[in-house]
Amino acid sequence: MSVLVTGGAGYIGSHTVAELLTRGEEVVVLDSLQTGHRGAVLVEYYYQGDVRDTDLLQRVFTDHEIEAVIHFAASSLVGESVTDPLKYYDNNVVAVQRLLAAMNRHGVKQIVFSSTAATYGEPLRTPIEEEDPTEPTSPYGETKLAIEKMLAWCDRAYGIKSVSLRYFNAAGAHPDGWIGEDHQPETHLIPIILQVALGQREHVAIFGDDYPTEDGTCIRDYIHVMDLAQAHYLALQRLRSSGESGIYNLGNGTGFSVKQVIEKCREVTGHPIPSVVSPRRPGDPAVLIASSQKAKRELGWTPRYADLGTIIESAWNWHRRHPLGFGGGTGGSR
Ligand code: NAD
Ligand code: UFG
Repeated sequence: MSVLVTGGAGYIGSHTVAELLTRGEEVVVLDSLQTGHRGAVLVEYYYQGDVRDTDLLQRVFTDHEIEAVIHFAASSLVGESVTDPLKYYDNNVVAVQRLLAAMNRHGVKQIVFSSTAATYGEPLRTPIEEEDPTEPTSPYGETKLAIEKMLAWCDRAYGIKSVSLRYFNAAGAHPDGWIGEDHQPETHLIPIILQVALGQREHVAIFGDDYPTEDGTCIRDYIHVMDLAQAHYLALQRLRSSGESGIYNLGNGTGFSVKQVIEKCREVTGHPIPSVVSPRRPGDPAVLIASSQKAKRELGWTPRYADLGTIIESAWNWHRRHPLGFGGGTGGSR
């Protein structure tokens, strides 16, 4: 029996595949490479194609005895989703509808889904708990929330059990330094700061310093990508053992401002990392911090790399070794 990982050539997907292989799982990857990298595919069974391609889904589910699906494949840029919402409804919602239909046809009853803190919108309290109101402020968050609801209805109707994992800010890289974050274009804070340290950018723009926080910059809860990977394995185990659906936050419960993250990157890299205060980025909530008590309690999740310095060190290790990301041709090699 195999686990089908959609988006397994992407950032979080490839790290989760690495974790699954360590745990002795058989893995099949399906990825269109629209934002992923061939060099990040770590398995023999790999299909390059789109989750929305029903013929391809038919082939994958026929070629392999799939026990469960972990679905990472998505479009995930908050800003882009505001200017091109239909792309998000198509690549996120339509894709999951077709995936669930294929699972249902083939009797596959378990799915772990990449949800997001963006389902909450502007939070009413900190830290955020799973039962708190979900009022997304972007089409990206809306599509992820719509998928969570689709999953709940498919549980009732077809008995497909799901775990939706609402990640906060993923960061860091594999401790061995052979896979890491490489988005083109890069929009995430930590890789952008490290590109300044590498001399690839002149400065990092701080998107707003007039937020209602201590230093005026946005606060986020950064979580190591390998801790996310561990949570996916545990979610799979929960589906296998209890067969119960659930929704879980994944974060460390500690917030760091943009200025604090830049300062920590200066410490780790020894580089001055110039910064320039710029206008706010539309759609950014001031503070996003998770309560992950439910994941700890019900999944047995224990983050191993909670310290921000450790997260940044692992990212720095990857970026220094692969300054051109997977484009340098060395990513993915052990
Ligand atoms: P990523 O872009 O690195 O990975 C996504 C992968 O999916 C890519 O390899 C891409 O080629 C593939 N893909 C996209 N659409 C596809 C399709 N229709 N068919 C086949 N493959 C397709 O993104 P990531 O940062 O690894 O994020 C993974 C998941 O986690 C996404 O669902 C994202 O919304 C979610 N998420 C990410 C973060 C974060 O901080 N990075 C936070 C919350 C949630
Ligand atoms: N930021 C800057 N300068 C930059 C880039 C980012 O100041 O050049 C700021 C942002 O304004 C934000 C913080 O750094 O306050 C983090 O921004 P990221 O772009 O790294 O991450 P986001 O918080 O926007 O979004 C990420 C994922 C989403 C997910 C969200 C959940 O990309 O998919 O975390 O918290 F929904």
